[in-house]
Amino acid sequence: MKVLVVGGGGREHALVWKISQSPNVTKIYCVPGNAGISEQATILPIQANDLKGLLDFALKQEIDLTVVGPEDPLTQGIVDLFESKGLFIFGANKKAAQIEGSKAFAKEMMKKYYIPTAFYEVFDHYQEAVAYIRKQGAPIVVKADGLAAGKGVIICKTVEEAIESVNQIMVEKIFGEAGNRMVIEEYLVGEEASYIAFTDGKTILPMASSQDHKPIFDGDQGSNTGGMGAYSPAPVVTKEVHERIIEKVLRPIIYGMGEEGRPYRGVLYAGLMIHDGRPKVLEFNARFGDPETQPVLIRMRGDIVPILEACMKGTLSQHQIEWDKRASVCVVMSSKGYPGNYEKGKIIGGLQEVSQMESVFVFHAGTALKDGQVITNGGRVLGVTGLGEDIPRAIEKTYQAVKKISWDGVYYRTDIGQKALCWL
Ligand code: AMP
Ligand code: GLY
Repeated sequence: MKVLVVGGGGREHALVWKISQSPNVTKIYCVPGNAGISEQATILPIQANDLKGLLDFALKQEIDLTVVGPEDPLTQGIVDLFESKGLFIFGANKKAAQIEGSKAFAKEMMKKYYIPTAFYEVFDHYQEAVAYIRKQGAPIVVKADGLAAGKGVIICKTVEEAIESVNQIMVEKIFGEAGNRMVIEEYLVGEEASYIAFTDGKTILPMASSQDHKPIFDGDQGSNTGGMGAYSPAPVVTKEVHERIIEKVLRPIIYGMGEEGRPYRGVLYAGLMIHDGRPKVLEFNARFGDPETQPVLIRMRGDIVPILEACMKGTLSQHQIEWDKRASVCVVMSSKGYPGNYEKGKIIGGLQEVSQMESVFVFHAGTALKDGQVITNGGRVLGVTGLGEDIPRAIEKTYQAVKKISWDGVYYRTDIGQKALCWL
C-alpha cells in the first residue's frame, strides 16, 4: 500500500512514523516533509496548499491513501477534489472543515446544538464591534473569523487593547481576508486541554487526552505560538470530564454537522477550557493538533492505518484503540526569535546521541538537510518526545534528551508538563 502524507511539521513526522509501522504499508511519500521525515518517507518539494500539484502526484504514483496534516488544504477542499478523482483520502471535506475555517460558523453550530462555549457576538463592522467591547468591558477575547495560521486570537486585558486589536484585524487587515468578520467573546478561566477524536460521522473514537503549551515563555507568559510542547494524558481530563466531553461536545457537534448537511468524517480536535470539571469549547480544528499529535501517537498501540480507513468508510464502530499506560511529554525546541523573526540554517548537534536513547523520539518540524547535516529551517524546529512511567518521569527523560541537542540560537520552555504535577 502506498501512502501520501501532506505537510512537513512535527505532526506530519509523527504521522509518518506511526504509518511506517503498519504492516501493509510498502511506501510512504511526504510533501514537503523535512529532514527527519526523509528517514522514513520519500520527500518532495510540493507545497501542502498546492492542490493541483498534490492531485497530479497522487494520480501518477497511484497513491492508495492520502493523509492530510494542515488545515489549509482541508478548508480548500482537497478531500472533495481527491474523492472526485476516485482517490482514497483521510480528512474532513470542505463543508465539514468549515468548523475550523470559520470561527463564526463554529460558534453558530455550538449555539444551535447547545454545546458549552464562551458567550459571543459576531461582527462585520468596526463600529459595532467597538460599541460591544465598550459595553462588555475587559478582559475580552477578540478573534479573526478565518484562518490566521494560529495567530488570529487576541486575549485583551483592557478595553483599549481590545479596540486596538479590532482595528488591526478589521481595518489594518493584519490577517488579510480572515479579518473581514470577527468573533468577540467572553474571557474564560480554567485549565486547557486538547481532545482529539476519530469519527466516521456516527462513531466517535477518542484519542488519549493531551495538553498544549501555547505561550512562548515559561509560566505561560508572552505571545501565543503554534505550541511549545504538550503531554499526554492530561490529568485535568478526569473520567467524568472525559464523559462530559463526549456527551456534551463531541456527540452534539458530530450530530449537528450531519443535520446541517456537512457530515463530519476524519479527525476532530476540540480545544477546551475546563473549569470545576466542566468543559467549554475554545475552538474546533478539523485536523490533528501540533504538537499534541507527537505525545499522543507515541502512546498509541496498534496499526493506525485501518482506523484512518474506517473513518472514511463508515466502519469505525469495529475499531478500538489501546493506549500505552506510560505518560509522554513533547518539548518543542525552537529558533530564537520565534514566533517573531528568526534565523535559519543553523547546524543542529546532538541528534545522533539522542537517537541511541530508549523511549525517546525526536520528531522534526522546521529542519532541512544541507551537505549531509541537519539544519534549522523554521520557527519550531524539533519536538523531542519521551515516555516515562508517569508524567514526572516522562518530563525527566525528555529534558535529558533536550539537553543533549543544541544549535546557535536554540530556545525551549523548561516547564513543559509542570501543570500536570498539581494533579498527582
Ligand atoms: P483558539 O485558537 O481559539 O484556541 O485560541 C488560542 C488560545 O487563546 C487558546 O488556546 C486559549 O489559550 C486562548 N483563548 C481562546 N479563546 C479564549 C477565551 N474565550 N477565553 C480565554 N482564553 C481563550
Ligand atoms: N496545538 C494547537 C493546534 O494544533 O491548533
